[in-house]
Amino acid sequence: MARPFLKWAGGKGKLAPTILSAAPPAMARYIEPFAGAGAVFFAVEEARTGTPALLADANAELIETYTVLRDELAALDGALARLAAEYAAGDGEERGAMYYRVRASQPSTPAGRAARFIFLNRTCYNGLFRVNASGGFNVPHGRYKNPRIHDGALLAACSAALQRAELRVADFAGICEEARPGDFVYLDPPYQPLSVTANFTGYTRADFGPADQRRLRDAFEDLSRRDVAAMLSNSDHEFIRGLYSGLGYRLVTVPMARAINSRGSARAPVPELLVDNFGRVGSVGGEAAGSR
Ligand SMILES: C[S@@+](CC[C@H](N)C(=O)[O-])C[C@H]1O[C@@H](n2cnc3c(N)ncnc32)[C@H](O)[C@@H]1O
Repeated sequence: MARPFLKWAGGKGKLAPTILSAAPPAMARYIEPFAGAGAVFFAVEEARTGTPALLADANAELIETYTVLRDELAALDGALARLAAEYAAGDGEERGAMYYRVRASQPSTPAGRAARFIFLNRTCYNGLFRVNASGGFNVPHGRYKNPRIHDGALLAACSAALQRAELRVADFAGICEEARPGDFVYLDPPYQPLSVTANFTGYTRADFGPADQRRLRDAFEDLSRRDVAAMLSNSDHEFIRGLYSGLGYRLVTVPMARAINSRGSARAPVPELLVDNFGRVGSVGGEAAGSR
């Protein structure tokens, strides 16, 4: 079964069934401008196999990994299996040394880079993605006992799910502009932190601040005006509520456990906000949805 093959902060594995059941019954294309580990994308492909998709993210290494998985499954599978076997054969010290060697490496082929990306994701501290000022991945070794680095069946299922997906490195705004009536857009941006200490938003070099959250609201408004069905998730923060209130959208709060957090105290369920524009979009459930 296709499901995320990466650990990703803010992964929507648990929320995917809720989002999927709320989504319009028909969609010409599934569009996810903040793809991350793609939990909702894989759930859509499981439930409605063959739905054309457009997946985008600002993280270029992430999108290259998806592209290789779609187009070069055998090469990626072989490279990752070799890394996994070497890691499994090592003792604690050897595994640490191997991790830092792979982290410092710069493979020359796309399949080599994708294998490195997945290997680091599965073995680094908390599955975080963080880069330094020059773009180098700088998360320390995670020391899991038996990390699942290579899962051939899962890679094959995900590769199959990606066959009808267009993949793009892009800012969300341009991707939203490409959406048309009949498409369904799911937006899962880096969350507005609920407190000053819970400020993890670093998936790329650029932070996602309040100005970006406003830009995103404007893109959501534009989608609604153009009759494109859209749904957005964020933390249930008064700033975010304020951005989407009074505009005819439905706002629903759902309890949600954070998937990745290093501090135990912050692992308590954090309320999550789901916003949809279905009340404003004539194409939802109507003739336009799925008619193309
Ligand atoms: C909350 S995560 C998405 C998680 C995803 N829904 C999942 O289930 O794994 C947010 C994503 O937005 C990406 N991102 C950050 N700024 C962006 C921007 N301006 N445009 C597009 N993507 C961006 C990050 O690289 C990250 O992968």
